[in-house]
Amino acid sequence: MTIALGVLGCGTVGQGTVLLAHRRAEKIQHLTGFRPYVKRILVRDLEKTRSPEIDRSKLTNQAYDILDDPEIQVIVETIGGIEPARTYILEALRRGKHVVTANKDLIALYGTEILKVANDVGVEVLYEAAVGGAIPLVGPLQENLTANEVTDLKGIINGTTNFILTQMSETGAEFADALAEAQALGYAEADPSSDIDGLDAARKLTILASIAFHARVELADVQVEGIRHITARDVQYARELGCVVKLLASGTDRNGRLSLRVRPTLIPLAHPLAHVSNSYNALFVRGDAAGDLMFFGRGAGSMPTASAVVGDIISLLRNIRLGVAGSPENRLYLQKRVVPDEM
Ligand code: NAP
Ligand code: HSE
Repeated sequence: MTIALGVLGCGTVGQGTVLLAHRRAEKIQHLTGFRPYVKRILVRDLEKTRSPEIDRSKLTNQAYDILDDPEIQVIVETIGGIEPARTYILEALRRGKHVVTANKDLIALYGTEILKVANDVGVEVLYEAAVGGAIPLVGPLQENLTANEVTDLKGIINGTTNFILTQMSETGAEFADALAEAQALGYAEADPSSDIDGLDAARKLTILASIAFHARVELADVQVEGIRHITARDVQYARELGCVVKLLASGTDRNGRLSLRVRPTLIPLAHPLAHVSNSYNALFVRGDAAGDLMFFGRGAGSMPTASAVVGDIISLLRNIRLGVAGSPENRLYLQKRVVPDEM
């Protein structure tokens, strides 16, 4: 049986998703009973040059060609930012369509609203790709580790800043040149100040902490400092001290008092996080039963992120097949907010 997907956005993530879903269609059919096919793709600019593997006859610049199509049951949102992505997702949910998104800005700021609408309607919203690119983080925290009380999260969860700091440290590159390269590689946000000012990492930490600590964490609860002011000389001094500079995100839960921070941090070269370089991300998780875990992998880029998006599509199709799509775990977001610790 086929199932029609509507993909909103065909940039770094959207294009990777369309190509990977197409390549894996047979395997997905084998795993889920559904063969996905991308029926329409929303873009802003119909004339833009795209991969020759993208079927241009599927492109539209009218979102409601997709949202109003009753055959399309699954919307994959890869536009990014708040509007119009938020409106399109809410409209899709209200029409009974399931949503897979890579949009951490939206989930961090409007996750509660979106997941409540999804729960009310009885459809699913999946967002593994919003945090850590290819690395499974949302799924393990939401499912595999729920037997634990998670007390600590610590890691590198922004690929762009990690790429910039790695280039500055290893090749002596200037900040601006390294940023331009990260943009050319598709790692940076449309507005890269989100990356370099630490906001992207703070949004991801908001999502991870909400799930890991079973608390309604808000962006304002995170103390944020970016890397805009880090100079080649700072990076050089760090090296002389036997350290590297990393943009570290950390969250702790001490008996319900949360402390959440994103800031540039000196990491000794002997520490495993010192060797997480370029666009790679890594996250340490401490659970009372599991002990320490470390997740590591590509945190940004087209195919790494498409891997997470298509993984979510597969989970969703499996749930549709089993008749259980409409995630109850999304209710985590609706729980009472925990008072943050003193900053
Ligand atoms: P991108 O390359 O800038 O692509 C955005 C796409 O959305 C483009 O195809 C663009 O159309 C389309 N679009 C933008 N505004 C639109 C509008 N108003 N109406 C219709 N189409 C619109 O962005 P991206 O890097 O793929 O990121 C997409 C999302 O994934 C973001 O939420 C981002 O945070 C998240 N994410 C990105 C990465 C990564 O490595 N890049 C990793 C994880 C998560 P045109 O092509 O016509 O311009
Ligand atoms: N701009 C983000 C980053 C993309 O550099 O990590 C992946 O979420």
